[in-house]
Amino acid sequence: MAEPLKVALAGLGTVGSGVIRLIDANRELIQRRAGRPIEIVAVSARDRSKDRGVDISRFQWVDDMTTLAEASGADVVVELIGGSDGPALALARRTLAAGKAFVTANKAMIAHHGVALAEIADGKDVALKFEAAVAGGIPVIKGLREGAAANEITRVYGILNGTCNYILTTMEKDGRDFSEVLAEAQALGYAEADPSFDIDGVDAAHKLSILASLAFGSTLDFDGVDTAGIRHVIAADIFEAEQLGFKVRLVGVAEANGHGLFQRVHPCLVPVSHPLAHVAGSLNAVVAEGNFVGRLLFQGAGAGDGPTASAVVADLIDVARGEYGTAFAMPVSAMSEPGRADAGERVGRSYIRLSVQDRPGVLAEIATAMRDAGVSIESFIQRGVSSDSGVIIALVTHQCAERCVVDALERLSGSASLTGQPMLMHILDF
Ligand SMILES: NC(=O)c1ccc[n+]([C@@H]2O[C@H](COP(=O)([O-])OP(=O)(O)OC[C@H]3O[C@@H](n4cnc5c(N)ncnc54)[C@H](OP(=O)(O)O)[C@@H]3O)[C@@H](O)[C@H]2O)c1
Repeated sequence: MAEPLKVALAGLGTVGSGVIRLIDANRELIQRRAGRPIEIVAVSARDRSKDRGVDISRFQWVDDMTTLAEASGADVVVELIGGSDGPALALARRTLAAGKAFVTANKAMIAHHGVALAEIADGKDVALKFEAAVAGGIPVIKGLREGAAANEITRVYGILNGTCNYILTTMEKDGRDFSEVLAEAQALGYAEADPSFDIDGVDAAHKLSILASLAFGSTLDFDGVDTAGIRHVIAADIFEAEQLGFKVRLVGVAEANGHGLFQRVHPCLVPVSHPLAHVAGSLNAVVAEGNFVGRLLFQGAGAGDGPTASAVVADLIDVARGEYGTAFAMPVSAMSEPGRADAGERVGRSYIRLSVQDRPGVLAEIATAMRDAGVSIESFIQRGVSSDSGVIIALVTHQCAERCVVDALERLSGSASLTGQPMLMHILDF
């Protein structure tokens, strides 16, 4: 029988224990597909005595997990700890530098250090794989690296954070406000005790920067992602958006053109006819547009022990087969540094929600600011429903350069007619 692929596992939490369960459950099938057995030989975490719901006594325990590769003699180390720096990064560097394969689900680390790690992997000609880092169980990295590899990708976008999508679609279903749904999501375990990485868009920005790099062959630019989360979306936004024919979703968009790379994670209005409008609950979805293949849509579970373990073990099967290639679909030496495109030049429609005083002249003031900024209005709703903070006005602009909409809001800022911060959301018109 062919030699087994020996695996050392760092991290035995949700995903780590899921990987052990999956390999146990599908052992024979995996062996037939990989052409050799995949065997976990060693594990490491913080607390050796913790009950993980799986038997770990059959594996070697390594206290200092940064030494996993050497201590266990494994061929590949799987990192399922998390954190962009610290022990995860030390383990990645040490494993790759030792000429061993490295598999991770850690989007934060890949978003910040992916290119530097890929350089080490290129130099040692070893695998660096991270399918589970973006959209959990959805094979979107494989789709871009392999299936769509012949295409020039012009745009990649999607719903990349299940917690935000769960919150927004629950607000939509129940008509409740953000803070109430977030508290419920935390109680149910759908949101972390500290949910800021998710709800402020940082987690989605990590994933988007990785997708952009793969799609456009450019080096990672996480700091170049214009990031805003969903904290300021109110129930009225979701209600008014629905009246206007849209759903509210947190969408990451990356585009590459002659002006550079554009990357943004913002809450957006998605037309009800668009596939992303139908992505509900904690699901994720990614769309990629290629010049020969057209529009590709990937959808599925973006998190959870089973789906994430599925992606991790798929990477291990590639390593076992010896089919792994370069981390970002090309050597680091072939990647470009595209610079950042000016978002103000993008043309599209926008949604603006204003809370205003209920008195004569306010509408004229808004109309004047829009006219002076070169923004014309396509739809307008004022329900006459007074909230504590005034009357809510929701409007959708015609197509115009984004800088014009920003200019209109700047003209209104500081006006005594406004009773709260305006909310601006762009419309996904592609
Ligand atoms: N959960 C998901 O659905 C999901 C989806 C996609 C990607 N990911 C990514 O997968 C990774 C793991 O996520 P998870 O949800 O499985 O996390 P988790 O449940 O919190 O598990 C983390 C594991 O890492 C261990 N650990 C933490 N700090 C350590 C340290 N300093 N030294 C040694 N071990 C340490 C913990 O040990 P103890 O158990 O002993 O405390 C635990 O076993 C993260 O990068 C995450 O972003 C997760």
